[in-house]
Amino acid sequence: MLSRIKDIAAKLSPRLIEIRRHIHSYPELSGQEYQTAAYVADILSSCGLYVQELVGKTGVVGELKGTGKDQRLLAIRADMDGLPIQERTALDFASHQPGIMHACGHDVHTTVALGTAMILSQVGEPLPGDIRFLFQPAEETAQGASWMIKDGVMKDVNAIFGAHVFPSIPGGSIGIRYGALTAAADDLELVIIGESGHGARPHEAIDAIWIASQVITTLQQAISRTQNPLRPVVLTIGQIQGGRAPNIIADRVRMLGTVRSLHPETSALLPEWIETIVRQICQTYGARYELNYRRGVPSVQNDLMLTQIMESAAQEAWGSDRVQILLEASLGAEDFSLYLDHAPGTMFRLGVGFADQPNYPLHHPQFQVDEQAIVAGVVTMAYAAYKYWLTC
Ligand code: NI
Repeated sequence: MLSRIKDIAAKLSPRLIEIRRHIHSYPELSGQEYQTAAYVADILSSCGLYVQELVGKTGVVGELKGTGKDQRLLAIRADMDGLPIQERTALDFASHQPGIMHACGHDVHTTVALGTAMILSQVGEPLPGDIRFLFQPAEETAQGASWMIKDGVMKDVNAIFGAHVFPSIPGGSIGIRYGALTAAADDLELVIIGESGHGARPHEAIDAIWIASQVITTLQQAISRTQNPLRPVVLTIGQIQGGRAPNIIADRVRMLGTVRSLHPETSALLPEWIETIVRQICQTYGARYELNYRRGVPSVQNDLMLTQIMESAAQEAWGSDRVQILLEASLGAEDFSLYLDHAPGTMFRLGVGFADQPNYPLHHPQFQVDEQAIVAGVVTMAYAAYKYWLTC
């Protein structure tokens, strides 16, 4: 089966590169993936899949039927949205849309899932069970997965696979991560309310700017002294506003931040932990506060058995030279985690780094991918899907 998958992938390679370049040329912003979705739906239909459009607003679902011998349903997920970035590469297939770019590799993810559908639909022998391909919108705004789930895409799903490009490992390599892959990412909005007064008479006022500085400093120090250092927490206040004039004590400071953590147990406790610190500081100095802690996406926790399937598929396909076991998670976020509330899953890192030219990070206007990654991703995904049915 592996050699058949590899043969088909090699023959399809020019077509897959064409598909990826087409998607790259016409990126669309989160929630507006109309052309991309139509393009995806056409290709899926031409492979004989049962296709549903406008799922999760602008998402697409394709079902590949198996023989029905195995009742389990496997899902394979890709994301389709671009970013509000002006592309600055010299590629001849660079973005035609001013100010929008596929700078996070979602063009590659979409192509890998399409290629997997193309291969598995022509491999000759139907699989024992069904595969549901999910092409979601709006991953960058962490909304698309929840839209898809609301529309029922995880109904009856027993396992889910995904992939994300990774410029830190060579093009065509596969990065496997056991356990946490990405972080939980929550939003924090905090308003400190003091009392205004003359800048020369601090004892008659409650200085919201100074209290805000105490809160920020204490939170950062408390992470290092009260959180388990082996269970990382990152809290970044990225925006702060307050005050009206140099000689008036500010009565109000508003700050916005992001909170990242890897371990679900840590993540569960963070809102209360933060609020306790804020409350105590505000009480000490007579200020009030409003704290709005919004849950974003949880951490992606790769399932052990499914990750073993993915690793062994990659090992057999490419040999150990091209498979890296990743020792570190990322504190970035991925809404793939929302699907994992409904079924176990695993996401691998698809190496897209160049050996002979500079590699720019994800979300950079000069980000590029080594296209060797496409066949590597497609073969790994298709073969792992095949191997899924061999395990119980
Ligand atoms: Ni991404």
